[in-house]
Amino acid sequence: MKVVVVGKGGREHALARALLKSPMITDLWVCPGNSGMQQAGVSCAPCESTEDIESFCVRHGVPLVVIGPEIMILSDLKPRLEAHGISCFAPSAEVARLEASKLFCKGVLKEAGVKTAACQVSYSLPEALKSVEAHDFASPLVIKADGLAQGKGVWVCESKDKAREAVRTLGEHFGFPLLLEECLQGPELSAFALCDGEDFVVLGTACDYKRISSDPFSANTGGMGAYSPCDFITSQDHQEIRGIFAKTLTHLNRKKMPYQGFLFAGLIKTAQGLYVLEYNVRLGDPETQALLPRLRSDLTELIVKAVTHQLQNQDCELSPEVSVHVVAASEGYPTSPMKLGSPIQVQAVDDPKVDLYFAGVSRIQNELVNVGGRVLGVTALAQTKREARSKVYEHMERINFEGMYLRQDIGL
Ligand code: AMP
Ligand code: GLY
Repeated sequence: MKVVVVGKGGREHALARALLKSPMITDLWVCPGNSGMQQAGVSCAPCESTEDIESFCVRHGVPLVVIGPEIMILSDLKPRLEAHGISCFAPSAEVARLEASKLFCKGVLKEAGVKTAACQVSYSLPEALKSVEAHDFASPLVIKADGLAQGKGVWVCESKDKAREAVRTLGEHFGFPLLLEECLQGPELSAFALCDGEDFVVLGTACDYKRISSDPFSANTGGMGAYSPCDFITSQDHQEIRGIFAKTLTHLNRKKMPYQGFLFAGLIKTAQGLYVLEYNVRLGDPETQALLPRLRSDLTELIVKAVTHQLQNQDCELSPEVSVHVVAASEGYPTSPMKLGSPIQVQAVDDPKVDLYFAGVSRIQNELVNVGGRVLGVTALAQTKREARSKVYEHMERINFEGMYLRQDIGL
């Protein structure tokens, strides 16, 4: 079977690697991919626009496309491919509003009976300021933009002054409505499901590190590392996670918006149990690089079953090993990555429990150089998180580029 993966980051490198383990695959291309994954043996095709990807798939007789980034899920790619009878493993743009509109997501969670933070919606600045005045700040107020905001759309406000600033800034940058939410307390985790419109399998859990450093007030990033599985949830929580996905999918079906694709629940474990903070309509980056190396089931087969609605009673097997993934970024990320274009020195990985994933890299004059914020990442698998952690940092010692930056506390 021929498969195309859409995207160019570490997540898509991990997706390609997991899909390629399947005996079902005859050809696989990442569109557009990057020079690093190509050097690592993954075929890439230089197509980025929806038109180019569509014509590539038609030309090569590709029957299945898996989309990585939300922006391509929200584009016209899926209907374009489906018009040619090509299966596209991704939710429709309509149901992808679960990620693209926090208001839509809240509505679904409430109607589905899934626990989520209480929230008020403000449609104008005066309305938002009035709600801020009414809050007593015994606990913080969480203020959120409705649409996609690349990690800049949520402010956790401890004081009235901060909350006033938040509604003004978010309103100006992203417009209204804004959501004003109760602040929940507890550790956060991510859970992933692979869904066929009705049924699903849970792919597992992971915890990511969103801040650029261990300082909890430092800048938000796409994610500087992750480990899998989450190590602070019980078997009851696992049941709860199944219940959250089941209720959500059943409700969406009832609303005639069946959900097919990867579904990523951002969860918080409070004293009252697991609450959903958000849904994303894709896999996480870098959570995927921690999660998929643990997957023992055949991912290609699971996706084929999903696009043909055959996931009922399907199991998903994961290795009991623990993975730790660490991202190496360009100095200055996330505000303004500096020193781009520096050659990357990588020593070959000779350990089957270690994987290297490329993201913001390119080939210039036959040399791999950094061209983006998050450049690459390393995943190590071991019996314990501690062992995986020491293995991953040991391998990071073998990689170097000018201005290379990584967090030292992933998996601690
Ligand atoms: P979201 O994009 O909605 O997941 O929010 C981004 C981050 O903001 C989350 O990962 C949490 O750290 C924080 N956050 C969002 N909503 C809440 C909430 N209701 N209570 C506490 N923290 C929150
Ligand atoms: N690492 C968080 C995300 O992919 O949204």
